[in-house]
Amino acid sequence: MDRVHLIICLLWACVNVCDGEPAMFGEVSSPQYPQPYPANLQKQWDLEVPQGYQLQLTFNHLDIESSPDCYYDSVTVVSSEKVLGKFCGQNSTDRLHPGDKPILAPGNRLQLIFQTDDSNHESHLGFTAFYQAVDIDECSSSNVENGSPCSQICLNTLGSYLCACYHGYTLRPDQRTCVLECGGGVHSELEGTISSPGFPDTSPLDLDCIYTISVQPGFMITLNFSQNFHIEQIYSQGESCLFHWLQVSAQGKEPQKYCGGKSPGVLNTGAHLVQLEYHTDGYGQSQGWSLRYTTQRVQCPHPGSIGNGTVTPKFAQYLYRDYIHVRCNPGYKLMMGEEEISGFKSICERNGQWHLTLPECKIIDCGAPKPLLNGVFERISGENNEYLSVIEYHCNEPYYRFQDTSKVTYNCAVDRKWTEVNNNDVIPPCYPVCGKNTEDSFGGRVFGGKSARLGQIPWQLFHSSPRGGASLINDYWALTAAHVVDGLENTNMTWLGGINNIKDKNPVTMEAEKIIIHPNYLRVPVGGHQTNYSNDIALIKMSARVPLGPNIRPVCLPNKTHEPVMEGRMGTVSGFGGFERNIKSEILRYGHIREYLSKECVFGDLPVTHNMFCAGDDVNHVDSCQGDSGGPLFFPMLGYGTNEQPYEVRGIVSWGPARCGHVSKGYYTKVQNYLGWIEETMANN
Ligand SMILES: *[C@@H]1O[C@H](CO)[C@@H](O)[C@H](O)[C@H]1NC(C)=O
Ligand SMILES: *[C@@H]1O[C@H](CO)[C@@H](O)[C@H](O)[C@H]1NC(C)=O
Ligand SMILES: *[C@@H]1O[C@H](CO)[C@@H](O)[C@H](O)[C@H]1NC(C)=O
Ligand SMILES: *[C@@H]1O[C@H](CO)[C@@H](O)[C@H](O)[C@H]1NC(C)=O
Ligand SMILES: *[C@@H]1O[C@H](CO)[C@@H](O)[C@H](O)[C@H]1NC(C)=O
Ligand SMILES: *[C@@H]1O[C@H](CO)[C@@H](O)[C@H](O)[C@H]1NC(C)=O
Repeated sequence: MDRVHLIICLLWACVNVCDGEPAMFGEVSSPQYPQPYPANLQKQWDLEVPQGYQLQLTFNHLDIESSPDCYYDSVTVVSSEKVLGKFCGQNSTDRLHPGDKPILAPGNRLQLIFQTDDSNHESHLGFTAFYQAVDIDECSSSNVENGSPCSQICLNTLGSYLCACYHGYTLRPDQRTCVLECGGGVHSELEGTISSPGFPDTSPLDLDCIYTISVQPGFMITLNFSQNFHIEQIYSQGESCLFHWLQVSAQGKEPQKYCGGKSPGVLNTGAHLVQLEYHTDGYGQSQGWSLRYTTQRVQCPHPGSIGNGTVTPKFAQYLYRDYIHVRCNPGYKLMMGEEEISGFKSICERNGQWHLTLPECKIIDCGAPKPLLNGVFERISGENNEYLSVIEYHCNEPYYRFQDTSKVTYNCAVDRKWTEVNNNDVIPPCYPVCGKNTEDSFGGRVFGGKSARLGQIPWQLFHSSPRGGASLINDYWALTAAHVVDGLENTNMTWLGGINNIKDKNPVTMEAEKIIIHPNYLRVPVGGHQTNYSNDIALIKMSARVPLGPNIRPVCLPNKTHEPVMEGRMGTVSGFGGFERNIKSEILRYGHIREYLSKECVFGDLPVTHNMFCAGDDVNHVDSCQGDSGGPLFFPMLGYGTNEQPYEVRGIVSWGPARCGHVSKGYYTKVQNYLGWIEETMANN
């Protein structure tokens, strides 16, 4: 169709024939109208409007010679060979005149036949009529021979109609009939309602409806049937729900058929997937059913409780996705089998099981207490080093002691450490107790002095060749005179202790590991002799810890804060040196001497410095001698009760006149002046 033609068609609304589609309206008139019609006429019009409409004809004007039955002249309206009317006359009041009442064709077509006889003397004008398409109400049963075209609901539309279905039904592909909509789809919401088709109306026959309820795993479906329940029940051969039934299939369970007049009530299916199949056959009657379904979370068994720990939170029921924590009481640890875990959380899983079984709370332990050097620990309470066990450390007294206490107590604490009351977990060291002897009565002299008993001067050490002495000052170090060890720093010096006779069978043998001579001591070349005894002091570090005991114990170093001057006070000097001219003693001797002013002690021309002091006893002729060198001159320490006074070494036997006992005076290294050097040297070596 070309465009011009189409436009004309639309504009003219297709008064006549437009390719294919008939016009919606039009006009028809007798020949020569509005002039009188000719005689001897036989003319036919075939009028048509589009399919789906009815054709309605209205005479605007009709003036045809009147005759009985319109015998002479007439216009006849015919539809499908059926005469709808035959008209003539001039006036609407005439019996055969159509007036302006519209004539409705049953369909979309109409024939108009105009017939005249051989005369028209009165010059009748004929007719003019208008026709139009009017919508058919296909839904009105009066228009359709076989009743409504739709099986359920008919909706009239312009030129056509639509069929629709009641709720629960769907239109078949024929667009006319309806079929029951049942089952289908999946109910995945956590709750909902389902009922038989048409409920509460009687269920249709020949049903096979399948309803599926599928919720996520971890939820369980409960069906709650309403009391209104009726499914035809027919027994035969032991089966009751033969022809109509509702079958409930829950995952993991035997399908169950229901029928009869009694509601199954509440069904806890325990499943997250349930299928319902509602079946009716072609006979009988079931009133149907309806149900409301709900879901519950799967329940896990109660987790129980745990010894020495808590399970939280506490619920009456534990459901899917709930989770619990376990915490141990202070002093207990979480154990999963043999393995310790830092935390515990278990979740109720969708299968109704806890994903982990409960752990245990086991008491913690602090492990074996650390050993204490020169000390021991004692268990006061508790076992296996468990939480809250108590231990006590002691030093090996009387040779060792804590600095200012006799014991320290530790508890096995929450942090698994042995901890003191003040939260300290460091064990203090045991210090050697200094200045205490085991035998404590003194008397006698060295040169001509008294022989010492074992344990009386337990800090006295002995070196045989060259013969010399030293004082043990702790369990590693000894103090001696520099001139005793000068030149021997790189030899293996063996010192003996714990003896009062050099022939003793069981001396404590000490190997010198380091010999440190005071840096300002004037070294003597091999074969030469000393000209300046200033700084005559040396330290010896033993290669192993000296096992302190009753016969071998250190002497104290002087108290830094005390005055160095001891003038007039009596001290004790000891050694294995000569006690008579050129005879060396095999036994340890001691004697009491006092300090002299340097001007009272002038012998030879060796320089006297403030690092040395003079001591002796020129009344009782007590003196140290060759071989006593390096040995101690010790005094009871001031500031203690008489019986507690420890001994401090204030002097080291250094030098004197060639003949001992002649003037009974000699020079001693003033230990007080070297406290800093001693401390530093011991700390750094
Ligand atoms: C129609 O006929 C009636 C009675 O016969 C008459 O009164 C009336 O005037 C007529 N009308 C016309 C338009 O001729
Ligand atoms: C089942 O439904 C009835 C009626 O709605 C209700 O009263 C009843 O509590 C429901 N039972 C359960 C277990 O939900
Ligand atoms: C808690 O721990 C203590 C010590 O280990 C133990 O004796 C006790 O039996 C435990 N209690 C429980 C309830 O397990
Ligand atoms: C000292 O003793 C060690 C081991 O006993 C030895 O190897 C070394 O040679 C000795 N040194 C001297 C100077 O005797
Ligand atoms: C002796 O030695 C000391 C220290 O080395 C020194 O200060 C002093 O001057 C020396 N005396 C003499 C007389 O050499
Ligand atoms: C040193 O002497 C002072 C004063 O007498 C005393 O307080 C202090 O405890 C002493 N130090 C030692 C290590 O004995």
